[in-house]
Amino acid sequence: MLKNKKLLFLFILSAFCFTNAQSQAKKFPSPPSADTIKNPIKGNQASIISGKKIYTQYCVTCHGEKGKGDGIAAPGLPRPPADHTSGFVQNQTDGALYWIISAGNNPMPTYKKTLTPTQRWQVVNYIRTLAKNSKK
Ligand code: HEC
Repeated sequence: MLKNKKLLFLFILSAFCFTNAQSQAKKFPSPPSADTIKNPIKGNQASIISGKKIYTQYCVTCHGEKGKGDGIAAPGLPRPPADHTSGFVQNQTDGALYWIISAGNNPMPTYKKTLTPTQRWQVVNYIRTLAKNSKK
């Protein structure tokens, strides 16, 4: 009997860990197909400057001036905005970031209609310059 209880406990514990790990990985799901979308816009100075303008206008209120997720609107949101300097964001492909910006995820709005595809790619190029170890 005692042994069974231990087993049951272990089972519940592992089930808990599993669902926890799952929800972590699926924090803001982009489909694997998003990774195959190629960035058609070169990450040159001109596109980064355009990306920064768009970012300042649309993203800074939540994600903050430096992209750390500390914008003025952040404290009022049900979930904290992602830190764009973090590995969590920087390790994602350009395609995944583009997909996220297009789709949004409440409370983050969708930018499919607000921004043209070119503008969304420019924002992706700008986000790359926010990386902690960026040389730009
Ligand atoms: C209303 C506030 C708000 C605005 C405006 C906003 N975001 Fe977000 N963003 C969020 C929140 C909140 C999250 C975290 C969502 C989550 O964890 O599900 C997020 C997450 C992200 C992520 C990370 C997604 C991930 O988990 O992989 C990226 C990239 C992102 N936003 C880019 C942008 C860009 C680019 C803009 C501007 C074009 C923008 N966001 C505008 C609130 C916002």
